[in-house]
Amino acid sequence: MTSQNSWWQEAVFYQIYPRSFADGNGDGIGDIEGIIRSLDYLQWLGVEAIWLSPHYPSPQVDCGYDISDYYGVAPEYGSLDDFKRLLREMKRRNMRLILDLVLNHTSDQHPWFRESRSSRNNPRRDWYIWQEGRDGEPPNDWCSTFGGSAWTYDAMTGMYYYHFFFKEQPDLNWRNPEVKAAMFDVVRYWLDIGVDGFRLDAVGTIFEHPDLPPHGKPYGIDDLYVMLRKAQTQEEQLRVRLLFDELVRYQVDMPEVHDLMRQLRAVVDEYPSKVLVGESEEIAFYGNGKDELHLVFNFPLMRTRQITPQWVLQNQRERLAQLPSGAWPCNTLGNHDSSRLRSAFGDGVHDEGLVRVLAALVLTLKGTPFLYNGEEIGMTDYLFTDVARFRDPLALRAYDLEMRLLGTPPADAAFHAATYGRDKCRTPMQWRNAPNAGFCPKDVEPWLPVNPNYQEGINVAEQEHERDSLLHFYHDLLQVRRLSPALRHGEYQPLSDETKDYLLFLRLAPEQTCLVGLNFSPCSQDINLPPGLSTVRLLFSSRHNQPKEIYQRLKLAPFEVWIGEVNDLSNLL
Ligand code: GLC
Repeated sequence: MTSQNSWWQEAVFYQIYPRSFADGNGDGIGDIEGIIRSLDYLQWLGVEAIWLSPHYPSPQVDCGYDISDYYGVAPEYGSLDDFKRLLREMKRRNMRLILDLVLNHTSDQHPWFRESRSSRNNPRRDWYIWQEGRDGEPPNDWCSTFGGSAWTYDAMTGMYYYHFFFKEQPDLNWRNPEVKAAMFDVVRYWLDIGVDGFRLDAVGTIFEHPDLPPHGKPYGIDDLYVMLRKAQTQEEQLRVRLLFDELVRYQVDMPEVHDLMRQLRAVVDEYPSKVLVGESEEIAFYGNGKDELHLVFNFPLMRTRQITPQWVLQNQRERLAQLPSGAWPCNTLGNHDSSRLRSAFGDGVHDEGLVRVLAALVLTLKGTPFLYNGEEIGMTDYLFTDVARFRDPLALRAYDLEMRLLGTPPADAAFHAATYGRDKCRTPMQWRNAPNAGFCPKDVEPWLPVNPNYQEGINVAEQEHERDSLLHFYHDLLQVRRLSPALRHGEYQPLSDETKDYLLFLRLAPEQTCLVGLNFSPCSQDINLPPGLSTVRLLFSSRHNQPKEIYQRLKLAPFEVWIGEVNDLSNLL
């Protein structure tokens, strides 16, 4: 069985946001040298693969997701030689590296776009999406997901270009075969250098409806911001989301994207054991389970204010049933676009327990887990309100909309903007209880403010020395996972139902069966195990001094994470 599993099904992935992770040269910006120096730490932690957010040269309008050279390394992060050294150092430690690949758009500073915009008959004109305006207005009513019209007028040639994201991120025209060939060259270039695959940015947005039909809705993207701000309940938020989906229905998830994914898969399959992970939740991106993307994020799992056993059971039931045969799940609870775990799902009272249960959830459910840097020490959102220090243009947009459309006073507007923007989860990694959290020297201003809660124990160095820290919890759990065939590739079988405040499930592999108990509540649980599970040997518990073996009953302390190995399953199956 083990031999049939690929490394990317079993590895724990760790997302590094390079600007904020580790600053090797002390200029206040993370870099590759910093990552190299952190590899021993990551190896100790138990990380087996890294997803590196964009490391390419970029004007940094969208924090690196606006690429101006797909072949290079941002000079502030280092050189191509540094990158190759990183790869060597990772391989030496048996770690894999996947890169972020932004296919939908380039930076407006990319030479392709500079050429494209320079004249109507430039050979690269058709590499982007150009349209005539209509009576001085944009070609249609399509919106950019980041605000305003999806069309920007370019005076140079008197036409509009299309952008699903910021205007500095023009969409490539994927119906032009030259674009595809150029991007496939990029893919081969990095695979030749030795990377292990790609996380595909915003895959759903690559194609738009060729006829440009108007959405015809009476509302626009800014109205949705206002509605979202006024939404009181999760249901109301969901309604706004559905309105958004309707607004962009001609701009995302066009059927052609699947042909493209199959072709991309074929390119990647020219190399042994590579992986493609799609930034999408659409099961359709798995194709037939073998011919499109290897992994597609289970984003629905994190789309709630409160993760409960009921929520997880339902999510797993739906998600696993939808997967085509051969497809492997992929779970995550956070990334550089979302709130940090403790801020997103904490209740302000039991956060310490909840974050452990949630971390264990991602690491024990069936599927490849993706962790976001800093979660292992419990970093939280930092809602700094100094507008001059905002770096995410989405925060600045929210600030403007707050004042313009909602009449929010400036101080409150700044708070809401900080909440809406993504800087909050991108602040520098907290390495030590030292000025700037040890990210950069004390007399240097880091590119984003450091969350002062590094002084309250939320830093690597102090947690390394504290046996009961969250960091050690992650470390211990990752070690258990690494050695457990059942947790790595076993099937999932729930044993508890939706009436309970805990989750109990099996992970079943031919070599081993594990029983996982996650108590989501501040009350202890006394659970009678199903008849076949008489003896279970403890592999891991978040509590000290738990019995080494349990018989027929499992007692879970409040918010306990408990994992055991089932000795004899014969009666159960
Ligand atoms: C993805 C990235 C996000 C970026 C957007 C545009 O959603 O995760 O950070 O802003 O694509 O590239």
